[in-house]
Amino acid sequence: MKPIDLLGGMTADTFLKEYWHKKPLLIRGALKDVGEHVDYAWLAKLAADEDVESRLIEYKQGKWHLERGPFRAGRLRRLPETDWTILVQNVNHHLPHIADILWRFDFMPYARLDDLMISYAPPGGTVGPHFDSYDVFLLQVGGHKRWQISSQKDEAFIEDAPIKVLKDFQVEEEFVLEHGDMLYLPPKCAHYGVALEPGMTYSIGFRAPSAQELATEFLVYLQDRVCVEGRYADPDLKQQAEPARISDDMVEQVSAMLQQIRWDKSVVADFLGHYLTEPKPHVFYEGPEAELDEDEFAEAARQSGIVLDLKSQILYSNDMLYCNGQLLESEPVDLAAWQALANGRQLPADRLSDNMMPLLFEGYLAGWWHIAG
Ligand code: SIN
Ligand code: CO
Repeated sequence: MKPIDLLGGMTADTFLKEYWHKKPLLIRGALKDVGEHVDYAWLAKLAADEDVESRLIEYKQGKWHLERGPFRAGRLRRLPETDWTILVQNVNHHLPHIADILWRFDFMPYARLDDLMISYAPPGGTVGPHFDSYDVFLLQVGGHKRWQISSQKDEAFIEDAPIKVLKDFQVEEEFVLEHGDMLYLPPKCAHYGVALEPGMTYSIGFRAPSAQELATEFLVYLQDRVCVEGRYADPDLKQQAEPARISDDMVEQVSAMLQQIRWDKSVVADFLGHYLTEPKPHVFYEGPEAELDEDEFAEAARQSGIVLDLKSQILYSNDMLYCNGQLLESEPVDLAAWQALANGRQLPADRLSDNMMPLLFEGYLAGWWHIAG
């Protein structure tokens, strides 16, 4: 097992065994080279886009305020010098070097990684003490932020606040993060970050759907696929003394019909492939501007290879591949190459076969991947 720089030289094994879901971990100097600086102007530009999820959280006159984007440039210019935070979700969908940071966490399964959110705050900026129901890595980029954490069990939130802020936060530990430092927090670990100097937090968030959400989505998936035989019939019907009563016979017959709805692990795996790769509602793919025809595409792909679009995700289970909420109907001989594309998010030219071209061309037209380079 190789040491991981991001984890301060710890192996993924040690991290997973000792910290993941269990206890916080502070990693000084985890990642200093974050590539091109995403400045406030860049973030403000993203926050103005209606396809980008953004929030502004302010604490003024003893009250929490929440506004949701898109924000007009004027709104973001009118902000005071202190005490606010702007948060932009899924920045990895928009900036390749930010996506690269997210994919450095590939010691975790992609099915669990969610997004890279960036927050910017001037001094005093905070979203208040709270806890999240999923794991998070908080990477400090520029500036200084003071983080206080607590293992408290008191989960009471302030009533009538527009965001979840703990009523009674009991500090247990405190760290000041500077550029490149990273704090891992397990789910439900209470935390309170306050900017001391203008700076950013890159939050690498994980997906942890509730059982209720999984069940609801699974039922939607089943609804499109379920096929049950028969029609209600009652050739031995007898007159009922109470015609308004739903008879036991009817309940029994319908329950026997519904028992035809069954699933096994392969159905659940297929559901997960669709569900986990389903794009978020505000995600759209754009086909190429200057479209190549199939032959031109094949030639360019054979020369340069393929890269996944920043918003695309391929996951697989057994020999089934899923991309952006759909099954990818690949040929068994190409499975290893498609799996390499899913894992590495790119496929070098020498791994592309003629067989793969029709499907690769389709995805290219849909904007799911592009010619590399
Ligand atoms: C922040 O970026 O300040 C908030 C992130 C979090 O607490 O989850
Ligand atoms: Co949080």
